[in-house]
Amino acid sequence: MKKCLICNSDISPFISYGDMPIANGFLSPDKFQNEYFFHMQVAHCENCSMVQLIETPDREMMFNENYAFFSGTSLAMKQHFKEFAEDVNKRFLNNQDPFVVEIGSNDGIMLQNFKEWGIRHLGIEPSANVAKVAMEKGINTIVDFFDEALANKIVAENGQADAFIAANVMCHLPYFHSIVAGISKLIKKTGIVVFEDPYLGDVIEKISYDQIYDEHTFLFSVSSINFIFKEHGMEVIDVIHQETHGGSMRYIIGHKGERDISKEAIQQMSKENSLGLNNPETYIQFRQNCESSKKLFKNLLVDLKSQGKTVAGYGATSKSTTILNYSDIGPDLIKYICDNTPIKQGKYSPGKHIPIVPIETFRGNYPEYVVLFAYNHAKEIMEKEKEFTANGGKWILYVPNVHII
Ligand code: SAH
Ligand code: TMP
Ligand code: ZN
Repeated sequence: MKKCLICNSDISPFISYGDMPIANGFLSPDKFQNEYFFHMQVAHCENCSMVQLIETPDREMMFNENYAFFSGTSLAMKQHFKEFAEDVNKRFLNNQDPFVVEIGSNDGIMLQNFKEWGIRHLGIEPSANVAKVAMEKGINTIVDFFDEALANKIVAENGQADAFIAANVMCHLPYFHSIVAGISKLIKKTGIVVFEDPYLGDVIEKISYDQIYDEHTFLFSVSSINFIFKEHGMEVIDVIHQETHGGSMRYIIGHKGERDISKEAIQQMSKENSLGLNNPETYIQFRQNCESSKKLFKNLLVDLKSQGKTVAGYGATSKSTTILNYSDIGPDLIKYICDNTPIKQGKYSPGKHIPIVPIETFRGNYPEYVVLFAYNHAKEIMEKEKEFTANGGKWILYVPNVHII
């Protein structure tokens, strides 16, 4: 029997997505033979309500010097993180010489703001290639995995932090107790924790199961986050829903009793109860929804192929690895996927080996249909690609349901 990573209760999977490769593991043909796969199954813990992967690959297999996701590829996300940083600065950094620590700081998309404002900062980023981009911008960065041991080291060298911040990384960390224990030592008594990740409530509601892949060990809810932080003497004091990544939640956390708990935080927890996020039935229904969504998507592509239409993909996202492998969709149904990340171009998609090409390939010879895998950047991308639409090109989306626009 598998044990919950948070509370050690027995858990069993409610869905299997089959064998999955490394979601960001874009590869060249010489690596096809030895490509790594793991069995991707998801469970919901009835005790602490955490939704989690049963098995995850070793962290070094996912986060290393060849990491393919550069946060700065999206202008909208740059703006989003500027606002995130401004909010933290305005509300929580009013003392003299404040110190901010960010984990998963990637190419410095968030910390560059603190750097510009002359605020003492430190990024923790194990993927050396993306960390290098940040360091070249003058952003203080340690190339390592954050955990309790590293937190102790940071405190010994820099003193405690006023704010611990993170985006789209906390849900990546199966050694979550070590992370939270580290945070509780790292921040001052009056210190604050602010992080955001894709929100379980949105995934269930929008059937965006493509948020589930190797890196995403957890799908958080306010209830499950409050459960684990409480075990380490902290508590959720506020939550703010975000539109990023198809629906995320920002959690604001402090040491127990240090700050008032907002009514939004309390209301969101009871809303989760009434939405059934703590109820096993919800996950049985979710599995059925995933299965029908997969069938609809695949049938559409098979149908378009039989009509002789050309279909491409837009945005070689890590999310697309789940949908392509789960639905068994390869280059016969999607000719190529275009993406603006140089390290992905010229390689092939994990598992299904669809060629990844520069955006210019798409612009030079439009297909009739394009699947928008980066649907979370729809506004930014559709604005850039107005000409495709003006030329009669059609976008295929699959969240919240399979549709063509
Ligand atoms: N915060 C950025 C990047 C998210 S991608 C954004 O929202 O766009 C997740 C990042 O977390 C990757 O760059 C990965 O290398 C990093 N990461 C993974 N494990 C980590 C750990 N234990 N400590 C710090 N960073 C970690
Ligand atoms: P994400 O959904 O995980 O943020 O990944 C988005 C992917 O889409 C990433 O590989 C970069 C790519 N992309 C483009 O190719 N063009 C764009 O305009 C944007 C915003 C993203
Ligand atoms: Zn549990």
